Amino acid sequence: MKKLIAANWKMNKTIKESVSFVKELNELIKREKNAEVVICPPFTALEALSKELKSQKSENQILLGAQNMHYEENGAFTGEISAAMLMEIGCEYVILGHSERREIFCEHDALINRKVITALKHSLNPILCVGENLEQKKTGKAKEAIGNQLKNCLNGISKNQISKISIAYEPVWAISKGDPNHKAATKEDAENGHSFIRDFLIKMHGRDAAESTRIIYGGSMKPENAKELLSMPNINGGLVGNASLSAKSFAEIIKSVIS
Ligand code: 13P
Repeated sequence: MKKLIAANWKMNKTIKESVSFVKELNELIKREKNAEVVICPPFTALEALSKELKSQKSENQILLGAQNMHYEENGAFTGEISAAMLMEIGCEYVILGHSERREIFCEHDALINRKVITALKHSLNPILCVGENLEQKKTGKAKEAIGNQLKNCLNGISKNQISKISIAYEPVWAISKGDPNHKAATKEDAENGHSFIRDFLIKMHGRDAAESTRIIYGGSMKPENAKELLSMPNINGGLVGNASLSAKSFAEIIKSVIS
């Protein structure tokens, strides 16, 4: 199972900035074959990036993902984007249930579950985000919180479908919010969260299905800590925010993956 390194640009980069980033990144990682690399730009840059990525000759094809989508097929949902629209534009991945969507836009588990089901129906690979907030960490309720999110967001997902989903463990307290000095979880704390998620998946769908499902880490991953985080047994990749905004630092993270 190749490690997945995904960039979540959040609300950053114009179309022009996005295209020049992927040109630079492609030059930097052309020969890196150890990781599957995905860029999730804002919706407005998807089409231009899709064209640019198709034109790139590389041993490591950079893939495209979106940061969100709606669970309905179409209809009166002002401001929303459907799975079919993302597929048409060339997306292979979609981030669902990010903590910023949960906190700022009031997304809850049942709604995220519907999004996961719709994404899979359209053969879009969900990157499902889970993770405890600071309060839950302080009160010893982290695992309960993650367990509930997994149970609810994966409701109705079959054993055959689970490995199409990448679970992103993003402890909310470790997310940088743009501060490059913000501290990530230690590799031990991160591994602890990941092995809890792995065990949860084993209980849900058995060892084979659980072990072919990627669990990736998000929260202040950067060139300085990527290697140690990515070397932990249950960490199968990274979902990178702030440090993915520079092609050089994102390329360094990709190069930290050892096969
Ligand atoms: P940072 O890497 O900026 O902490 O963001 C993590 C994240 O939220 C990725 O989805």
